[in-house]
Amino acid sequence: MADIGSITKGSAGVPKAEKGRGRSGRDAGTTKEYQTTSTGSPEIPVSKSFLNKLGEMHTAERELTLALPLVAAAAKSKDLKTVLRIHLKETKGHAKALENIAKSLRQELPSKSCKPMTRLIAEGVKVIGKRLVSSDQDAALIAVGQKIEQFEISSYTPLCTEADENDWTHEFAVLTSILNQEKMASELLAGLAAGKAPLQDLVEKTSLKKIRAGTR
Ligand SMILES: [Fe+2]
Repeated sequence: MADIGSITKGSAGVPKAEKGRGRSGRDAGTTKEYQTTSTGSPEIPVSKSFLNKLGEMHTAERELTLALPLVAAAAKSKDLKTVLRIHLKETKGHAKALENIAKSLRQELPSKSCKPMTRLIAEGVKVIGKRLVSSDQDAALIAVGQKIEQFEISSYTPLCTEADENDWTHEFAVLTSILNQEKMASELLAGLAAGKAPLQDLVEKTSLKKIRAGTR
């Protein structure tokens, strides 16, 4: 998988108004109508809900960046540690990528809390605090990890859809890459939960080698 940061900026953030309406033909709830900034560059109409979700996911990714090293350290199996550490690298990239999306759309990234992620991380911390036997602890950590990935997948999917509908080619590509990495992490965790270790076998099935190449 390509490094998110390396995705070439193509027809980034070109306002739908300039290109004609997107596939949905809708123009709902934009923060501002098409205006000109003090520097003369046109502002891009972006829906409030898109921006708020972007800000919420930025907070979610940053919180996860802080939590994942603790979870990886607590994991007992080498395979689970590896999956978590790879996803930590990806998660750091996701936070940065969201900041860049806001910039390329010429918007301020709103500061939002993300209660679902905070709650799920607290659930993970609680698992660690229970000091369960190795296999039980790993199974419980994987279960929380799967919930986190499901939350992220369900959050990035509508963001991808909206970027696509607005013909934000670059932003759509970046968001799709994030979504694919979340799906990959989810598949790997599901594989470990189903006892499909060693990781080497999972790697071949889920193209983990490509992820590693993209996160170096
Ligand atoms: Fe993420």
